[in-house]
Amino acid sequence: MQENKRQHSDEKGSVVPVADLVVVARDLRKDFGGRPAVCGIDLEIPRGGCFGLLGPNGAGKTTTLRMILGQSPLSGGSLTVFGLPVDRAVREIRRRIGVVPQNDNTDPDFTVEENLRMYARYFGLAGADVARRIRELLDFMELADRADDRIRALSGGMKRRLTIARALINDPELIVLDEPTTGLDPQVRRMIWNRLRQLRNEGKTLLLTTHYMDEAERLCDDIVVIDKGRIITQGPPRELIRRHVESNVLEIQGDASVIAGLFDGLDAVRVERVGETHYCYTNDLAAALQRLERAPALICMHRPTTLEDVFLRLTGHELRE
Ligand SMILES: Nc1ncnc2c1ncn2[C@@H]1O[C@H](COP(=O)(O)OP(=O)(O)O)[C@@H](O)[C@H]1O
Ligand SMILES: [Mg+2]
Repeated sequence: MQENKRQHSDEKGSVVPVADLVVVARDLRKDFGGRPAVCGIDLEIPRGGCFGLLGPNGAGKTTTLRMILGQSPLSGGSLTVFGLPVDRAVREIRRRIGVVPQNDNTDPDFTVEENLRMYARYFGLAGADVARRIRELLDFMELADRADDRIRALSGGMKRRLTIARALINDPELIVLDEPTTGLDPQVRRMIWNRLRQLRNEGKTLLLTTHYMDEAERLCDDIVVIDKGRIITQGPPRELIRRHVESNVLEIQGDASVIAGLFDGLDAVRVERVGETHYCYTNDLAAALQRLERAPALICMHRPTTLEDVFLRLTGHELRE
């Protein structure tokens, strides 16, 4: 079957291939008993690089990944992975994908090494190569000294590292990670980020979901933000920040009536109040800071805007499930 090739016309009108597309979704839909979870999303995920699917809890991230993995039938639209339709080529597709599910599902009664060996067998891998591959992966995820430990003896971070090692056993082209660092401490998160970057630099395609904006900003080349099953914006992290928010934000605490009048006459300041904090977004940091000198009692912290500001602007401040 033909692989998808994205083509576009350059200025002179000649058609040039842009990239292989690993995943193509058109008007992808999923509902559960009539309740929509994914409401018609389009995705084009190019080969190589890290693609992020972002959204608050319940946005439809896991549901989308499960359809891509052939674990959940589509309610509508079309979906190809490696140019193959998921509903007809699920075995071929799964052979070429590595999966890190949202919840660790390693077998607690087996050792680290046994878990990897079981997975190798599932992919039909056998012989001396498997032992070598397992050793390499244990080294890669810094688990070599844990090879004989049972899963129930591992910390959350170790289990997650094992799940990532396991996802690599079949040397996949596409690695799908559902919230790979949720609940982990900062050291483990950084270690995992480094490994994911390494895999990306080796030419793998990474598709990850996260609700950590710092993670997305650090790792992803391209991002789709979904909310309530719909795409609300898409692009590289830096571009999304430029497109949706000002360059800097002042986070101010203190007397709301003082803050309210502080920036009068400065049209470049947009104020959002969340609880006791006023977020004052501006492209003219110097002017805003100058105004702040009039109210020395206020407590203020200022910083460049991040993807988190984009996320909050687009998905709102109300709490999700
Ligand atoms: N198996 C299921 N049966 C019924 N509803 C589901 C099922 N899986 C997910 N949902 C619902 O679909 C919506 C999207 O869920 P999910 O894809 O898990 O979101 P996310 O991964 O972005 O947090 C939620 O409202 C969730 O309750
Ligand atoms: Mg999820």
